[in-house]
Formats: sequence, C-alpha cells, structure tokens
Amino acid sequence: MEKVFISRRIPNKGIETLKNAGLEVKVWGSAIPPTYEELLDKTAQADALICMLSDKIDSHFLRKNTHLKVISNYAVGFNNIDIQTATDLGIPVGNTPDVLTEATADHAFTLMLAVARKILDSNKSILEGKWKNWEPMGFLGQDLRERTLGVVGMGRIGQEMARLCQSAFDMKILYFSNTAKPETEKKLHAKKVSFDELLEQSDVISVHTSLNESSRGIFNKEAFQKMKKNAIFINTARGEIHDEIALTEALSNGLIWGAGLDVTNPEPMSIDNPLLSLPNVVITPHIASATIDTRANMSFIAAQNIIKGLKKEKLVGFVNPQVYSK
Ligand code: GLV
Ligand code: GLV
Repeated sequence: MEKVFISRRIPNKGIETLKNAGLEVKVWGSAIPPTYEELLDKTAQADALICMLSDKIDSHFLRKNTHLKVISNYAVGFNNIDIQTATDLGIPVGNTPDVLTEATADHAFTLMLAVARKILDSNKSILEGKWKNWEPMGFLGQDLRERTLGVVGMGRIGQEMARLCQSAFDMKILYFSNTAKPETEKKLHAKKVSFDELLEQSDVISVHTSLNESSRGIFNKEAFQKMKKNAIFINTARGEIHDEIALTEALSNGLIWGAGLDVTNPEPMSIDNPLLSLPNVVITPHIASATIDTRANMSFIAAQNIIKGLKKEKLVGFVNPQVYSK
C-alpha cells in the first residue's frame, strides 16, 4: 500500500478521498506544525506528501526525499517549494487553484471595507470602555463608490476582486500585470497600466500576484511615497511582496490611509509588531481561503493531485507539468 503523509490535519473530504483510493494515510496530529527535521523524518517513510504553505520544501529537503512520487501543496501559492529542484528530480508538484478564488477575493473585499469603515478600531474603542457619546466627528471612514481599484496581478483572484468591487461600488479598475487580460478589460472596462500609474491613481490597491523574484518587495518605500494619501493597501497574497518596515512607516506618517493584511512578513507576526498598534490597520492571520467549503474543496483537490501523481497522470492543479517530459 502506498503511503501519504499529510503535515497537518485537513478536512476529512481529502483524507477520505485518499483512503477510498486504497492509500495509507498518516496525518501529523499535533496543532503545532512539524519542524523541518520532523517533516524530513516523516516524509522519508512516505511515497507522497501533502504539505502546507508554511512547510519549507527546499532543495536540501527534496534531495533527501528523491523517492517521493508527488508533492501536493495545500495552497494555490507554491513559493515554499523549490520547484526547479523538484522538477530536476522528476517530482510532480500540485497546488489547489480555482477552488479558493472566491473565498480569497471575498476576504480581500472584507479587509477593504473593514479598513475603509474603521471596523476594528471602532470596535476596540467599545472594548476599551471609550464609547461614551455619539460622535459627530468620530471614526470617519471613506466612501468607495466610483473610486479606483488598482489590482496587482490580474489572475483568477485579482479578477474576482475586481468584479466584486465593480458590482458593489462601480469602482473603476486599473491593473498591473505581466500579461494583458483582454477578456477582463472588456468585461470590467479594466485598464492595464504601469506600476507607477497604478500607484499614483488608485484609491485602493489590492495585491493578488504570486511571490516571485519580480514581485518580492515591490511595495517598498518609493512605492508607498507614490501612492495617494487616501489610499488603502490590501495584501492577501504573500507578505514578502511588501516591505513591512516601509509599510509601517507609510501608515504611521500618513503617506497612505490604511492597510488590510491577511499576510505579513514574517508569519506568524509577533504581538509586539508595531503594525498591530496602528489604528488604521486590519490584520488577519492568513485566513483568506478559510471557509468550511473552500477548505474541504482544497483538501479534495490536494488528494486528487496525490492520486494522479502516484499514477503518473496529469495533476488537477499542476505546477510543473514539464516534469513528465523529462
Ligand atoms: C494561500 O495563501 C494559498 O496560497 O493558498
Ligand atoms: C493565483 O494566484 C490566482 O490568482 O488564482
């Protein structure tokens, strides 16, 4: 019987799918993730691995586990895995696209509204016993109707965020992307612009690109300086895409108006991180895909990727299809 190791507990839908395919499933049972060494050790005894975005599957890890027949990342992003080395070693790598597009865009949209309407800071004032009067000038937020949304990375999630913002608030859509999206341009009257134009013209900027060498740190000091003073910065992609010190300064100095983050750098962040004491920031702990249905569907795709990979078939979410032509 072929063995699958799963590095955290995931919804039963995926686990049942693996068992029904006749596979032996071992799950890391603790709520505390395995260390790098522990994961190496467990993986050594498995034919296939389902790992989390927080597991570092680097070149050393892969070279110690060349017997692996497939790796299935329980995420759409796969920057935690050294894809080049996996491909060189002939190991197919899967991810879970599509099923989390809507949940992730919904979360970006939620963060945008929470920042615009000061939901967290105003709630905190109640908890701190500061709600004494109705405040004619308190917690003044921003209207979003007909404002401009700038999307960085117009993939599935970026497109869904743009669609939501346009249907809800008639927002004007700009985007920055390596590839033009003529369909989206037609459907949403979206306009492809340079990164600088996007920074200068957007009221809300939402990041939906993958983390790669061209997106790493693009939201730096210079970028925040080019943004509007009323701008809201939303990142539900990867924390490494923004320079967190520059972001903290931009928010403290009023260079930009607010930020909604589902991802930080590092993760988890420590509770004395200065971002957490700013009134104009809403942060969630990397939960954008965390709905009951979405996580069940992710577990199903992750399981299917394992089953397909063990049979040397095309994965459902296939990060390195070139592996089979080797
Ligand atoms: C979450 O961040 C994912 O990549 O699925
Ligand atoms: C991937 O990042 C996507 O937009 O689905």
